[in-house]
Amino acid sequence: MNDASRQTRQPWQVWRNRRGRLSALRLVVLAVLIFPAAKALVEASAIAHSARPLNEMIHRAGFWALVLLGLALAVTPFRRITRYGNLVDIRRMIGVAAFLYIAAHLALFFADQSYSWLKFFTEITKRVYLIIGGIAWLGLAILAATSTDAMVRRLGGMRWRRLHQIVYAIALLALIHYFQQTKADVSVPTFVAGLFGWLMAYRIVGWWQGRAELSTLALLMMTIVVAALTLVGETVGIAIVFNAPLERILPGIWDFEAGIRPGWQVLGAGLCVVVLDFVRSRASRRVEARRAVA
Ligand code: HEM
Repeated sequence: MNDASRQTRQPWQVWRNRRGRLSALRLVVLAVLIFPAAKALVEASAIAHSARPLNEMIHRAGFWALVLLGLALAVTPFRRITRYGNLVDIRRMIGVAAFLYIAAHLALFFADQSYSWLKFFTEITKRVYLIIGGIAWLGLAILAATSTDAMVRRLGGMRWRRLHQIVYAIALLALIHYFQQTKADVSVPTFVAGLFGWLMAYRIVGWWQGRAELSTLALLMMTIVVAALTLVGETVGIAIVFNAPLERILPGIWDFEAGIRPGWQVLGAGLCVVVLDFVRSRASRRVEARRAVA
């Protein structure tokens, strides 16, 4: 790619790829990124009539920011699993969108504190879950501020990559914040934590095996371990929080009538990825064999 072709795209033209061409992938991703905000607009009247409209909006913005953070982390594993290298083109878009939602999350929190800086800072420093959220917020702001091409050039590839590895710590802090503010049912946070665990495990196993691309068998084993840890983690967590004996809670794992536990959901999602990897690796092996014959 030469400089002339790079200049054809303005920074705000996020629907164009690096070559300045209209990108169908970017358009689809843009639609996904706008969806939560559009949904809130469509449901504006219902939100306005809810018990605490601002709080409802804070929850929505925080939840979607976390989902987008997860999507940004999913780009690397999925571009390898799908053998679709172009996916890397949308990672920055998703990351910046995650920051925009989290900026809205904080702005709404500020509005909820009656726009008083004193109340805003007092409230944050008073509660551990808000301090943790605040640190994660600052981390995301640093990543967003250094996400431009100019910043990559200024920092140098290696330093930039090292700096952006704080995203793993940010994800962990955001998950802790999510768990701590959840008052009753922790099923959704546990499922989300399981998915983040899977994404982290992918990197750890790759680093441990010294290869970026994991085999289908390694993916399968990893999925089983992460799902089992999610089931065990939830069970032990419930036992600790409710001070209940483990043997009373354990059978609940198999009680599918009462609901499918998050660990099983993580297993289901992971197995779908394993199947995708199996299909894609066979297809690419066939292409390679055909090329070798040719
Ligand atoms: C200074 C920074 C932050 C503040 C002041 C803050 C504040 C809040 C507040 C007040 C709530 C609602 C709690 C309740 O109703 O009891 C909340 C929920 C939440 N926050 Fe934050 N937060 C911050 C940073 C973050 C960050 C960085 C993330 C993730 C990237 C995040 C994700 C969430 C999530 C997922 C929820 C729960 C949403 C749901 O219930 O579905 N927050 N936050």
